[in-house]
Amino acid sequence: MVIAIANDHGGTELKRYLVEQLRGRVGIQVLDFGVADLQSVDYPAYAQQVCAALRSGTAERGILLCGTGLGMSMAANRFPGIRAALCHDEFTARLSRQHNDANILVLGGRVTGTALAAAIMETWLMTPFEEGRHLRRIQMMDV
Ligand code: RB5
Repeated sequence: MVIAIANDHGGTELKRYLVEQLRGRVGIQVLDFGVADLQSVDYPAYAQQVCAALRSGTAERGILLCGTGLGMSMAANRFPGIRAALCHDEFTARLSRQHNDANILVLGGRVTGTALAAAIMETWLMTPFEEGRHLRRIQMMDV
């Protein structure tokens, strides 16, 4: 699975931690679109890069991080075909996959601690979409 990941300055430290968790895992390739430091940047530009990677088929899933996760999720969800889920716990992470087929996980670097974020990411990566009635509903989003 190819995972595109990006962040603004509010998500740099959590992104660094999560990329460390992902790198070296069998079957996972990380495409890191930055940023790597704490200098202030504009989050929509980074959301756009991850969404473009998904929409072109370069990546299957994405992870976006900003301070709260709000700006990144708003920016990402403006693109057709993108279903970005801001998750604060494992329950919503699991349901975002089972019912919504979320293709981007959004996390708040100033909200969610590293251990919880890693658990959320693991649940989100490992949970399949249930399809069935949920497929019809997600298809209704992109008409
Ligand atoms: C940056 O200060 C902050 O506004 C950004 O990281 C994010 O939280 C926006 O939604």
